[in-house]
Amino acid sequence: MPPCSSELLDNPINRDKVRTIYLSRHGESENNLFGRIGGDADLSSRGEQYARALGYYINTLPQPCHKVITSRLHRTQQTAQYVQAQKEIRHEIDEINSGEHDNMTYEDIAANFPVEFALRDRDKLNYRYPKGESYMDVVKRLKPMMAELELEDNILIISHQATLRCMLTCLLEGNLAELPYLKIPLHTIIKLTISDAGVSMEYHRIPVECVDTFRPKPENCEISRNLAAACQTVPFHL
Ligand code: G3H
Repeated sequence: MPPCSSELLDNPINRDKVRTIYLSRHGESENNLFGRIGGDADLSSRGEQYARALGYYINTLPQPCHKVITSRLHRTQQTAQYVQAQKEIRHEIDEINSGEHDNMTYEDIAANFPVEFALRDRDKLNYRYPKGESYMDVVKRLKPMMAELELEDNILIISHQATLRCMLTCLLEGNLAELPYLKIPLHTIIKLTISDAGVSMEYHRIPVECVDTFRPKPENCEISRNLAAACQTVPFHL
């Protein structure tokens, strides 16, 4: 499997210019609480607390961010509301489009579309949701914007689990096979420092409780599996 940079970037990352990119998912949303994927829900009350904490963290950095980039979805813009920086909305960093499965829980999809659900588990990188996107589609739509980031100084990007998996894999020259299962927890700031020494990464967990949305690959990815096997790794939700 080739490194992601060749798929996502025309040129290697420019390491001559020292800069910091802060990445964050939106705060916990109402959909996260109920285990629903996609959608355009508002923040939960804990997500709102995270937005305040993120604003404080970014606004008090010794070297402030001059810009915060969000997706078109409400939950990212609500998460950016306390950040004192120029705001930019970009469609390229919208969450993966889950098409006809948008706003459903994993259990709903497993029960109503068992073959689709198993096909995704078998090849999560290339699986395309009906009338939606695959992870590779997200990689392709991000490509021009990733090149633009070369020109930016310190910035904050507030985006989504799937999109940030793609961005991080590119910036760290990670492996495409591991991309769909990278851990990008809620309420965590990922600090990437780019310099001629390479790209270093630090996770800063902000102490505001939230659900875990990570669903590991289940042991059984057969199309003939039963509902319990399909839902074996679904994380807890209300
Ligand atoms: O709502 C979509 C999720 O952030 C993507 O999660 O690709 O791990 O199912 P998943």
